Amino acid sequence: MAEDKLTKIVSLCRRRGFVFGGSEIYGGLSSIWDYGPLGAKLKKKIKDIWWDTYVNKREDIVGLDSSIIMHEDVFRASGHLEGFADSLVDCPTCKKRARIDKLEKIQDNLYQCPECKAKIDTLKNKPRKFNLMLKTNMSATEDKPYYGYLRPETAQGIFTNFSNVLDTTHKKIPLGIAQIGKAFRNEVTTGSFIFRMKEFEQMEIEYFVKPATADEFYHIWVSERFNFYTEKIGLRKDNLRLREHAKDELAHYAKSCTDIEYNFPFGWSELEGIANRGNFDLSEHSRVSKKDLSYFDDESKEKIIPFVIEPSAGVDRTFFAIISDAYHEEDVKGKLRVVLKLKPNMAPYALAIFPLLKNRPELVELAKNIFYDIKDKFPALYDDSGAIGKLYRRQDEIGTPFCVTVDVESLTDHKVTIRDRDSMQQERIDVTKIKSFIEERTKA
Ligand code: GAP
Repeated sequence: MAEDKLTKIVSLCRRRGFVFGGSEIYGGLSSIWDYGPLGAKLKKKIKDIWWDTYVNKREDIVGLDSSIIMHEDVFRASGHLEGFADSLVDCPTCKKRARIDKLEKIQDNLYQCPECKAKIDTLKNKPRKFNLMLKTNMSATEDKPYYGYLRPETAQGIFTNFSNVLDTTHKKIPLGIAQIGKAFRNEVTTGSFIFRMKEFEQMEIEYFVKPATADEFYHIWVSERFNFYTEKIGLRKDNLRLREHAKDELAHYAKSCTDIEYNFPFGWSELEGIANRGNFDLSEHSRVSKKDLSYFDDESKEKIIPFVIEPSAGVDRTFFAIISDAYHEEDVKGKLRVVLKLKPNMAPYALAIFPLLKNRPELVELAKNIFYDIKDKFPALYDDSGAIGKLYRRQDEIGTPFCVTVDVESLTDHKVTIRDRDSMQQERIDVTKIKSFIEERTKA
């Protein structure tokens, strides 16, 4: 059933233009996906809401847009060169390469291959470390290569710019630096749609605080970020939960970490992690770069290395959670209705406008005039490419909360039929009331 839902979501995303396979015409690339016209719109909404909530509306957080390719020493300092690796093992039977921590353990040193179910004896087939970072040659000549790395998290660009931001903004801590951008990991586990990609997007805040206040801010951020998903994004509360990491699963930099998990079609998995990274990153970058990255505390008149609380969210996983949460199937008079019950302000289009009869030029003209009048205020769509039932079905599947139909009577009574996506109820309203009707119902 769960697998079935995943297949249905992938298929809906494909046929409606949310998500396509990357390099599809050349056979595709594993764990690489492209966002289509509707996907690009939804993704931008997610990022805009996040940026607006934290950068535009708060005085204690500033934005940053740092580069993707970074110096090797950045990752020497951060520990990624040494420690950001998966332990991989090859199945002797089918040759499939898999992460040892994802395999089913039969007994000590004996695992089951997820592909062909053969036994893998790790004493004979020794696991090997495989660094997840993508490396690129930045030299102009092949014979003298020098390498840069595609960042595996946006966070490192924030740490390396910490002093630049302080010096130019004259802000005091607590201070957050927020960034949205691409990150890259050479993931080996495949087949979970946009949950685990090699190229993905993160929304990260590094929130710098005095060490004594770190624990308090950590808890504040855990509940702030949980509420963001229910209130701003509109995810169902019963599909979200918090999971605190045990000490032995913490990343090398973290003192504590809580995941916000979402009930994806394949089960509960991480949507976001909120970590207390202590002063690991600033200390290590100071040590390796030999630059002073301390902060002068006016109160104690001492230099300190701030602690950092990091709410780190994935744009793609938020996207996936939104579609999964919104996906509904209903039986309407013996027919299957697929509908995305998106929070109205998250929908790619707020409304769609149709003429009931496309062979009546007066109806087409009125419907187009309404569309042109409305599209500067709301994301709207005009469509006359099918019968009304087909047009409704199409809008249901992309989550458009309202459909406006112009019919023959509209020409005389200046009213249109407006249909609600979720209840399918229709009501007639005056053409002049459409904007206030939509505005009222699509507020964030
Ligand atoms: N700076 C901390 C950090 O990167 P993480 O838990 O590895 O922590 C944070 O990643 C978030 O980034 C995850 O919760 C997830 O939403 C997203 N993410 C990580 N790896 C991903 C991947 N391979 N594909 C899609 N999203 C990913």
